[in-house]
Amino acid sequence: MLRRTLLSAVGATAAMLALSGVAMAQETVKIGLILPMTGPFASTGRQIEAAAKLYMQQKGDTVAGKKIQLIVKDDTGTADVTKRLAQELIVNDKIAVMAGFGLTPLALAPAPLATQAKVPEVVMAAATSTITEASPFIVRTSFTLPQATVPMADWAAQNGLKKVATLVSDYGPGIDAEKAFTAAFTAKGGQVENLRVPLANPDFSPFLQKVADAKPDALFVFVPSGIGAQFMKQFVERGLDKSGIKLIGPGDVTDDDLLNNMGDVALGAITTQHYSADHDSAENKAFVEAFKKANNGMRPNFMAVGGYDGMHLIYEGLKKTNGEGGQALVDAMKGMSWTSPRGPVSIDPQTRDIVQNIYVRKVERKNGELYNVEFATIPNVKDPVKAAKSN
Ligand code: DHB
Repeated sequence: MLRRTLLSAVGATAAMLALSGVAMAQETVKIGLILPMTGPFASTGRQIEAAAKLYMQQKGDTVAGKKIQLIVKDDTGTADVTKRLAQELIVNDKIAVMAGFGLTPLALAPAPLATQAKVPEVVMAAATSTITEASPFIVRTSFTLPQATVPMADWAAQNGLKKVATLVSDYGPGIDAEKAFTAAFTAKGGQVENLRVPLANPDFSPFLQKVADAKPDALFVFVPSGIGAQFMKQFVERGLDKSGIKLIGPGDVTDDDLLNNMGDVALGAITTQHYSADHDSAENKAFVEAFKKANNGMRPNFMAVGGYDGMHLIYEGLKKTNGEGGQALVDAMKGMSWTSPRGPVSIDPQTRDIVQNIYVRKVERKNGELYNVEFATIPNVKDPVKAAKSN
């Protein structure tokens, strides 16, 4: 009798534990944040992780009555690792959302898993136009290179530049930038010479020598975030800073993470992009101040704002679905609009890509620090590659 009572008591406790286990699993919404935290693109990981954590610190870790758990994983910038980590996070950790993705190959690798498992993939960094077409579960809060680049071509044509050399990292976003610039600038009568440099361990000097010899009006450069300082060093070593050849491009090369340490060589560079730490708005001032305070004075760059807005999209999406993930969450994200530190943004319901202002900026010294100072705004720019396809 006693034994039976004991056994049933044990059984009841086990059942209760199992039940509360289920309840606990339902109460927690896990976000798998996969980033390059080591290797040449670690600055992207560092910026996005800091921004995601800041967002959670500011908004709390409960949404729609569920606890939000952020699981950060380092893919070292290697696509096979990204894919394996995504698989483990989906199968073992039962994540509701995966996010991050510091480079184009890293965003593409888990796309089939997102589709198969119906897990939304929020791309916070990678910026090749086609990425959102790799899965209907991909939503992007970064930008696309054509989106940032077409305004650069327009500015170049309007400001009397006739001959431009392009120098891009030889992979998805670089090729996107090269094509977008070349098409838009030649359509306005400009002349272009295209040069491509390997993504891994780039040696810019032979290309810069070619540019020095060809003497174009401007050099248009795309290198991914984190590489701009290496480029600038070789730009000076080849004497291009004194050649009168203007430096232009999408804003990745004068990335806020590195800009302040580049020195006077960067002064006067004209770039087009969606984010500057110097952006003049109340939202951005509060963001920059809080980000610096939480990260030993580190200045947020465009990767950080992609991470911060990605968390916002996930939080607001979960509020709408009452904590549900899957297709409902992707649907909730479509068409969402808000005021980001970068300015007004929305998610295009057709393409799941971000629509945002692109700013024309010039590197200037302000209060002793180098900034990309915005001086013109092109409002509500869609990714032009996908916009052209839908016409
Ligand atoms: C990509 C990576 C970057 O660091 C960047 O600045 C732009 C694009 C990419 O791989 O998609």
